[in-house]
Amino acid sequence: MFAERTKWNLALNRLSEALARHSASGKRLFDLTVSNPTDCGFNYEAQTILGALHNPAGLRYEPNPKGLEAARRAVAAYCADRGAAVPLDDIILTTSTSEAYSFVFRLLCNPGDELLIPAPSYPLFAFLADLQDVKLVRYPLVYDHGWQIDCHGLEQGITPRTRGVIVVNPNNPTGHFVKAGELVRLNQTCAQHKIAVIADEVFLDFAFGSQSGLSCAANSDALTFTLSGLSKICGLPQMKLAWLITSGPEELKRQALDRLEVIADTYLSPNTPVQLATPVFLQQRHGFQKQLVTRVRRNLAELDRQLARQKACTRLELEGGWYAVLRVPAVQPDEELAITLLETKSAYVHPGHFFDFAGDGYFVVSLIAREQEFAEGIKRVLSAF
Ligand SMILES: Cc1ncc(COP(=O)(O)O)c(C=O)c1O
Repeated sequence: MFAERTKWNLALNRLSEALARHSASGKRLFDLTVSNPTDCGFNYEAQTILGALHNPAGLRYEPNPKGLEAARRAVAAYCADRGAAVPLDDIILTTSTSEAYSFVFRLLCNPGDELLIPAPSYPLFAFLADLQDVKLVRYPLVYDHGWQIDCHGLEQGITPRTRGVIVVNPNNPTGHFVKAGELVRLNQTCAQHKIAVIADEVFLDFAFGSQSGLSCAANSDALTFTLSGLSKICGLPQMKLAWLITSGPEELKRQALDRLEVIADTYLSPNTPVQLATPVFLQQRHGFQKQLVTRVRRNLAELDRQLARQKACTRLELEGGWYAVLRVPAVQPDEELAITLLETKSAYVHPGHFFDFAGDGYFVVSLIAREQEFAEGIKRVLSAF
């Protein structure tokens, strides 16, 4: 009765089974995978956030395929703060970055067409692609005291069916930003092959080194779709509001926007109260981001302190984002190691293969975990080697 595209293996993987057993046992868990900011002890400006949802204008329905102007104006102001001048008409509001991806995939791809995605990267792409009948082709990121795009590898992945290249800026979980030189080359490649750049900037504001993020929102040398939203920028995933910005050569941009407007008009997804509150949500991002950056810096410093006391494990360089990649002895496959850690140390980490790391010996840990839980969790992980 069901479509092939939903024929997923829905059985729990062995790590999820081990996690279920652990939670049934009632033992305390040191969770180094947390990614929900509303569950990490940050102080939100509750009155401001909830008050913004009380706007009487929310009693009126004024459908607008691109989203309410007041909200798009706030998004444009956010982009201007990031150095990108974005006209209001080039912004389309969606309920999530995932939904924005689905609009772009639908716009660009016939069934079986291909999109290039970085490896390692974020596991949700596989489901998004299945749902839109798109085939994902991986291009390598290479690590040498920092990550970079393997531009040659990327170009080799292009076929007549390729419709776009996804860049995650900074990438999850490697935490590296797209550099100006990489963007120039990416633009040349994409313009030459008549394919689009799709830039995911949900973590753009979270930079930890000297390198800060360069937004693609005004990138104009190739057709570009830039995606972000409230879920990470403001730490408000429950509000379900994101945006899709189209830029590029004028004529291509106009055609893309005309078609996207029809896709958006078909769903009219974002709700009115949240759109009306978006200017306030974006204003309060600074307080949230300050707390988050402090948390990440402290956890990273703690991680480095603990790593300095042993020799078996190291961490990879990172520039931004919410995660760190640990290099651990590949004495067993990553998943086996993660299960062992859970069963013997009550510490929960994500194995690298969830994120398409090329080999074993990688764990991904969340840097937004509460500081005490993080310190104890890392101690337990390192004590296993
Ligand atoms: C790189 C990246 N893009 C997009 C998302 C999803 O964002 P949203 O909640 O807006 O769908 C995530 C969530 O973790 C992410 O890590």
